[in-house]
Amino acid sequence: FSMFSALIFCLCLCWPSEQEPISSTDKPIERTPENYSMDFSTPRSLTEEEIPDVVNQFRIAARNALEAGFDGVELHAGNGYLLDQFMKDGVNDRADGYGGSLENRCRFTLEVVDAVSNQIGPYCVGVRLSPYSGCLGCRDSDPDELAVYMARELNRRDILYLNVVEPEMSWEGDAGALGAGHHRLQAMRDTFDGTLMVGGGYGREEGNCAIAEEYADLVAYGRLFLANPDLPERFRRNAPLNKYDRATFYTDDPVVGYTDYPFLGQTSKGNGMM
Ligand SMILES: Cc1cc2nc3c(=O)[nH]c(=O)nc-3n(C[C@H](O)[C@H](O)[C@H](O)COP(=O)(O)O)c2cc1C
Repeated sequence: FSMFSALIFCLCLCWPSEQEPISSTDKPIERTPENYSMDFSTPRSLTEEEIPDVVNQFRIAARNALEAGFDGVELHAGNGYLLDQFMKDGVNDRADGYGGSLENRCRFTLEVVDAVSNQIGPYCVGVRLSPYSGCLGCRDSDPDELAVYMARELNRRDILYLNVVEPEMSWEGDAGALGAGHHRLQAMRDTFDGTLMVGGGYGREEGNCAIAEEYADLVAYGRLFLANPDLPERFRRNAPLNKYDRATFYTDDPVVGYTDYPFLGQTSKGNGMM
């Protein structure tokens, strides 16, 4: 959903040969109200010796993406994916060079950023973080410290952009209900001199406000974009928005959800207006 995307999701999600998913830990995922009905395999903790190979796989994936014609990649280091599982002390229970101190926990992510940047150039690399979220049980005991440490380290690396999930982001709330004028990521903004993208819970007004106040350089939209194929035009005209339908968020139906939200001027096919 971010504007610039060849996400290296696959590396985070699968591991060949039906083996256990890899992680920073052997512990099963923490059960929360959001995930209680889902099925998760118990992961296997990567050994320290295996990590360089995984770093190399990220590098190869980035190279392949550019060879396939993408302009760049966004490294997903948030929302409970593999790199997030290393950074957050709520999950990472390692006693080696990739666990314990904040510096150790962030090492894997920064090694991946460096490897990918060396391969395709830092100007082709975006990084996505969610230091404040507890997505899939990945939460940290000191998210402020984690947020600023990563912002500082990434600042040194001159990446194309940093994309951060808002602390207030909640799936149960409505997109556009964040409230204008909040500055929860201000410390990251103050630390990171490059292009900062924020996302999670923004509507038109909140997004305009974030840019006007120089709190962010870019605002990412998910749910509103999903339901409004012409979202930029609607924002430009301050036109009403189609309401997203949660029931089809994860659908594979080719006809209902995703593909049938009307453009401005078209009649609605069962989706109400916001
Ligand atoms: C249907 C749907 C599926 C999503 N899946 C993922 C996902 O797999 N991984 C992820 O990091 N974010 C995922 N997101 C979050 C978006 O990437 C984005 O950060 C979020 O939607 C922005 O907040 P907003 O919807 O309030 O604008 C998903 C969002 C939606 C609406």
